[in-house]
Amino acid sequence: MKGIILAGGLGTRLLPLTKVTNKHLLPVYNRPMIFYPIQTLVDAGIQDILIVTGGNSAGDFLRLLGNGKSFGLKHIHYTYQEGEGGIAQALSLAEDFAENEKVVVILGDNIIEADIAPHIRRFEKQARGGRLLLKKVRDPERFGVAEIKGNKIIQITEKPKHPKSSYAVIGIYMYDPDVFKIIKTLKPSRRGELEITDVNNAYIRRGQMEYDILKGYWTDAGTFESLYRASWLVANKSGTSR
Ligand code: G1P
Repeated sequence: MKGIILAGGLGTRLLPLTKVTNKHLLPVYNRPMIFYPIQTLVDAGIQDILIVTGGNSAGDFLRLLGNGKSFGLKHIHYTYQEGEGGIAQALSLAEDFAENEKVVVILGDNIIEADIAPHIRRFEKQARGGRLLLKKVRDPERFGVAEIKGNKIIQITEKPKHPKSSYAVIGIYMYDPDVFKIIKTLKPSRRGELEITDVNNAYIRRGQMEYDILKGYWTDAGTFESLYRASWLVANKSGTSR
């Protein structure tokens, strides 16, 4: 399976930290943010990795990571997202890279404790569709929220005012090659972006979306509070899984 890390965007929620640099180059405890999703993929046995970047300092990813040697990789692929088209638009840039294989997609600001290899193995055995990772959180209104019935997700709502559950959809998504066809059918949301939640709901409507619950801690790092929390979690590795 191939891995795709989405590390574009303008990081406006972190201004002025992101005025001159890319959010994913900011420090999380003792390493640049982008190191964590790369390590997550490498630890799960993914060697073929594409980084989609954009916004400020895009060239600095190359200076920082080179060919990925320090992660034991032979090379890293890079591509560039112009503007702020959303997560699904960034993913669409990976179509050629994916070469009709299944992919695991990780948002560049998602920091987790657990090994995702067991989830990837389960998705490898899945005939088609997608697989999401969910995590119970105290502040679901900040995320995509899954409404669950039995062992199925019946709908995901992006940043709902009145969440139907406490289960956030974390920024690690597994998809079959149909994902690129689905993205082509999407219309921009109210904030003018192609939403990953719309991709996931399309799979749910097809009855082809599975999920697992992630163990260990998870945080994004796109706000001052979550960036601070990410550093704290990494520094206290034994950490508070919630
Ligand atoms: C994005 C997704 C959201 C998901 C979150 C995970 O939100 O749209 O569904 O729960 O990532 O980090 P954003 O961080 O772009 O607001």
